[in-house]
Amino acid sequence: MDKFLIQGGTPLIGTMPISGSKNAALPLMAAALLADGPVTINNVPVLHDIFTFNKVIAETGTQVTYAREEQKLTIDPTGMNSYEAPYDLVRKMRASFYMTGALLGAAGYAKVSLPGGCAWGPRPVNLHLEGFRALGAEIEMDGGYVIAKAPNGRLPGGTFTMSPSSVGATVNLVLAAVRAKGRSVIRNAAMEPDVVNLCENLNALGARISGSGTPVLTIDGTDHIRAGAMQNTPDRIETGTFMIAAAMLPGSDLTLTNTQEHDLGTFVNTFRKLQTGLEITDTTIRVRSTDRIPPVSIETAIYPGFPTDLQAQWATMMALADGKSTVTDHIYPDRFSYVPELVRLGGNIERKDNTVIIRGRSVLKGASVMSTDLRASVSLVMAGLAAQGETEVLRVYHLDRGYETLEDKLNAVGARIRRISE
Ligand code: EPZ
Repeated sequence: MDKFLIQGGTPLIGTMPISGSKNAALPLMAAALLADGPVTINNVPVLHDIFTFNKVIAETGTQVTYAREEQKLTIDPTGMNSYEAPYDLVRKMRASFYMTGALLGAAGYAKVSLPGGCAWGPRPVNLHLEGFRALGAEIEMDGGYVIAKAPNGRLPGGTFTMSPSSVGATVNLVLAAVRAKGRSVIRNAAMEPDVVNLCENLNALGARISGSGTPVLTIDGTDHIRAGAMQNTPDRIETGTFMIAAAMLPGSDLTLTNTQEHDLGTFVNTFRKLQTGLEITDTTIRVRSTDRIPPVSIETAIYPGFPTDLQAQWATMMALADGKSTVTDHIYPDRFSYVPELVRLGGNIERKDNTVIIRGRSVLKGASVMSTDLRASVSLVMAGLAAQGETEVLRVYHLDRGYETLEDKLNAVGARIRRISE
């Protein structure tokens, strides 16, 4: 298992390209299974989760070609001859569960392993299953697998109101509904850019989805989704992560390129409360740190609210703020595995239920810390960049799942990170 050795205390200065979004690419990859021929997806980041999903898709007999250097993925479902997603792959990446909606939509049948939990607790799929039933699917469970069937091989369509609003369930229901016989309406649908991007790409290939970006999606089933090209969006969580990193490291002046402000929702307005230097154009975001970090409390919410995928990073920065703040996660009340590790580094932070109370003015000193999940891991790297001395971050494979060449990107703008392969 690889680990990072980080020498802290240097600012981030220079230009950093943002990669394509992991969480927007995965739905596009599943959607390609619905097409009459090959679909090419641009701006696909080179990440472990993408490789894992490639394997899941290839299990169905679908041809997957990944031109890494061009970050282009071509998925040709014309050879599809199996409609299953096995446990040993699905357990590695829960978004593999998107195969249920894709196979239901493409073939009227899916046998997909239930995804496991994750580092911070259960990740239910009840909304996905209730939604498929609402669209007319027959759902049964067998040995840890979901078996979903469309009567007469094609879903009729239907109406479903989800609570809470779920990104994954919205993606799965769109995948199942676009080639249904009739109309489907999904209420309290997720409005995340990942969902909007999926709908816009599917519409460009013949789907008939209206209302994306609003809480009500209306989908009129179509007989064909054409072969063609899909465009992935920049990774909004990577963007927010590096904006926070620059704000918390004194002397930083970091320009992020190939990105877009809109996908960050209200995060940018919250970020402005830090009173950093902030310059935003259509495709770039420049952050210049200041000599003090004011305490700014946040609460996560569905889009366009503060993303849960950025709460660990924000809490890490608030450990350095010159006053008390709180970070509350309403989406995942247990997503705080980074807290004990941050305390080991000297963070003045304490968890109470789904809130962390951050007293601030922490003096971070290097130590050995353990990664547990993707966003907690990157927060520990950020803490290491701010800490005095050397920090060892163990099990960085969590990072490789969601951040493309993280240490190369950070070292290119002044960080001192060494990857030790063990
Ligand atoms: C997506 O997960 C993202 N993953 C997560 O990012 C992200 O944290 C999450 O959305 C929230 O924004 C991908 O896009 C691959 P949800 P997802 O369904 O779809 C509850 C990362 O770090 N719920 O929107 O699984 C659930 O418990 C990952 O990149 C049900 O109750 O999230 C949670 O409280 C981590 N029943 C809330 O909805 C269900 O059937 C939101 O979860 C489904 C969800």
